[in-house]
Amino acid sequence: MNILITGGAGFIGSHVVRLFVKKYSGYHIFNLDALTYAGNLENLKDLENRPNYTFIKGDITDENHINTLFNKYRFDGVIHLAAESHVDRSIKDPLAFVKTNVIGTINLLNAFKNIWNEDYKGKLFYHISTDEVYGTLGETGLFTETSSYDPNSPYSASKASSDHFVRAYGETYKLPYVISNCSNNYGPNQFPEKLIPLFINNIMNSKPLPVYGDGNYTRDWLYVKDHAKAVDLVFHKAEHGETYNIGGFNEWKNIDLVRLLCQKMDDKLERHEGTSEKLITYVKDRPGHDLRYAIDASKIKEELGWEPSVTFEEGLEKTIDWYLNNKDWLDHVTSGEYQAYYDKQYAK
Ligand code: NAD
Ligand code: DAU
Repeated sequence: MNILITGGAGFIGSHVVRLFVKKYSGYHIFNLDALTYAGNLENLKDLENRPNYTFIKGDITDENHINTLFNKYRFDGVIHLAAESHVDRSIKDPLAFVKTNVIGTINLLNAFKNIWNEDYKGKLFYHISTDEVYGTLGETGLFTETSSYDPNSPYSASKASSDHFVRAYGETYKLPYVISNCSNNYGPNQFPEKLIPLFINNIMNSKPLPVYGDGNYTRDWLYVKDHAKAVDLVFHKAEHGETYNIGGFNEWKNIDLVRLLCQKMDDKLERHEGTSEKLITYVKDRPGHDLRYAIDASKIKEELGWEPSVTFEEGLEKTIDWYLNNKDWLDHVTSGEYQAYYDKQYAK
């Protein structure tokens, strides 16, 4: 089996690639990634010499390159993670999100459809998506697989659109697909523009912790390796044409999470209790900021037997330790282009 994983040099993708390469020696895993600011081959150094792993540098918006790759390797399965993934960047440059998340996805769907030409036995196109497509919840309730799509940011609108195209190809061309919509991931290798790694990095450097608005926004956090295990199960066991919500059963208001992180970091860095909390700075809110995300993950639990295995306490410890032990990684990814983004995003 030739399996294409897109976006495998990014945060979640690198964990999915590692799981598949190590677990399935009978598969050849092709990791296609454009190596944008968010993609980093350092994430996969340990796999470089594995015989069942090949990295391909390429952009999913490049239709010719995508068609050439599909004709050459005839991928039996696609696990599609490549995306522009940061909401704040989507507010500044929506078109970049349409290009990669919508057009890039359509290029992959077309290439997959064209090589198999309706002979889809044993084939699967798996789209990795987000709970943000459902929009926002109020103080109560959970997103289920039948919640209506109601995206509020350019990022979530582009992911919603790509989900719709995947489903449309399933209906129109009988292309076999599955989609999963996951809540907020955290863990090693996450680019430090997202809340948890950004704040760990800032605490390490005694920089302000920019909490948007009043900090009373809620997210449902899942350890990234648990997401990768869910992806494995969905890819192998899910009924085609189905959608699965994946979540951590783990809701936190941002400000409570930030305070917990501050306490843990004070401990790890042997700083006086309360030192890091003093860095908390309330800043201008994110436009269109979704109040609350929370996932009802009972379908994947009941049908595929998946549930999170790592508690938040444990996952946060592992995550903090990883960043403290990988300062070189942080230095590499936070230099250059990222520094310019940071200065602009958090300008007073
Ligand atoms: P990420 O930003 O860390 O990584 C994205 C990867 O895609 C990078 O390696 C980047 O180089 C690559 N990429 C970007 N544009 C590309 C292009 N045009 N062609 C080829 N490669 C390109 O993202 P992530 O957080 O790992 O998210 C991965 C996927 O999971 C995304 O589809 C995202 O929407 C989805 N998702 C993320 C979360 C989360 O909490 N991070 C939650 C649910 C779903
Ligand atoms: O829910 C899944 C989604 O989770 C994924 O689809 C996205 O790819 C991923 O980026 C994430 O989106 P969020 O917008 O929820 O994640 P982020 O880490 O950017 O923000 C988490 C919360 O923290 C959110 O309420 C905004 C807030 N925040 C974020 C940053 C970067 C701050 O208060 N300050 C900040 O500086």
